[in-house]
Amino acid sequence: MIKPNPFVRDLIPYIPGKPVEELERELGITGAIKIASNENPVGPSPLALKAAGKALGNIHRYPDGDAFYLKHKLARVLNTAPERLIFGNGSNDVLDIAARAFLSPGDEAVMGEFAFIVYPIVTQAVGAKAVISPMPDYKHNLRDMYSRITPRTRVVFIANPNNPTGTMVKREEMEWFLANVGGDVLVVIDEAYFEYVEDPDYPDTLLYQNRHKSILTVRTFSKIYGLAGLRLGYGVSDPELISAMQRARHPFNTSSVAQEAALAALDDHEHVKRSRDVNREGLRYLRDQLGKLRINHTPTYTNFILIDLEKDPMPLYNALLREGVIVRPVGGYGLKTHLRVTVGLPEENERFVKAMNKVAGK
Ligand SMILES: Cc1ncc(COP(=O)(O)O)c(C=O)c1O
Repeated sequence: MIKPNPFVRDLIPYIPGKPVEELERELGITGAIKIASNENPVGPSPLALKAAGKALGNIHRYPDGDAFYLKHKLARVLNTAPERLIFGNGSNDVLDIAARAFLSPGDEAVMGEFAFIVYPIVTQAVGAKAVISPMPDYKHNLRDMYSRITPRTRVVFIANPNNPTGTMVKREEMEWFLANVGGDVLVVIDEAYFEYVEDPDYPDTLLYQNRHKSILTVRTFSKIYGLAGLRLGYGVSDPELISAMQRARHPFNTSSVAQEAALAALDDHEHVKRSRDVNREGLRYLRDQLGKLRINHTPTYTNFILIDLEKDPMPLYNALLREGVIVRPVGGYGLKTHLRVTVGLPEENERFVKAMNKVAGK
C-alpha cells in the first residue's frame, strides 16, 4: 500500500471542538451548549446572512478566485491597497499558503510553545522544522524568539492575541522585534481576534507594513463577524510577497457565498458592536465567577479564557459534557491541566458557571 510522505506521516492531526449534535446523540440529550471553538455566540452578521442567501442563486458559477469586489472594499476599509491582500478558505488557508510559498524542506520556522497549533502543522507539512520558543506565563517571548532565528529561519509565527492562551504581545515588544528581525525572515502576525481586543497597548500591525516589508498580517471573518462556517480569512502584506502567495493559492479557494457574506459583514457595524459588548460583559462575568470558584485563569484579550485546574482536567471536562456543556481540552498544546472556555451568551455563561459549581471539586 502507498505510504504518506514522511512529513505528512509525522503530523499530529488537529482535533476540533466536539460538535453539539455529536454530544446530544451520544448522551441522548437536547439543548447542549458549545463554548469550545471561540465562535461568536451572537451568531452571524444579519447583513451577511441576507447577502449569503442572495448569493445562493449563483452557486452554479465558479467564484471569482481573486475576490475582486471584496478585495477592493476591504482595501478601503483597512486603508490599504488591493494588491496587498490575499484571501483564504479561513485564515488557516492563508497560514498554509504562506508556509507553502516561503518554507522548503530543512528550513526553520520559529513559534511559541503554546502558540496556535496550526503553525507546527503547516510547517511540518512542507518538511520544514518548527523551532519552539518557551512561553513563560503563557505569553510569547519575542526576545527569546529573536534569539532562535538562524540563517535557516524563513518564517516566524506570532499569534496576537494567542490561541489557546488568550495572551497578547504589546506594542513596544512588537516594535522592538520588528525593528530587529532581518528582512529575509517573514513575520506572520496572526490577528484572528483583532476586533475583540480593546487594550490601548495592542499593536495594529497594518500600521507597520510600509516600514517592514516582510510582515504578513492575517485576519479572519470567522470570529467577530460570525462566519466561521463559511470559511473566509485574509492576509495583508507587501505586494511582492502577496504575489508569491497568489501562485501557491488554489484557484477557487474562497466561495462566492463567503465573499458576498464578508462584503456585507464589513458594513454591519451594529453586529460588530453588539458582539464586542456581549464579549466584554461575558468576560467580566466569567472572570468574576472563576475567581469565586478559585480557579486560576490567564489574563485574556480575546473571546475565550484559559483556565488551569492544576490537575488532570478530563474528569471535569467529561462531567461538564454530562451537564450538556462543551468546553475544550488543550492537552494537545502541552497544557495538561487546562481547559479553554469560549465566552458565550449571558445564559450560556451562566449555564457553564452553574455546571462548574455542580461538578468542580468532585
Ligand atoms: C489564532 C488563530 N488563528 C487562526 C484561526 C483560524 O481561523 P479561521 O481559519 O476560521 O479563519 C484561529 C481559529 O481558531 C485562531 O485561533
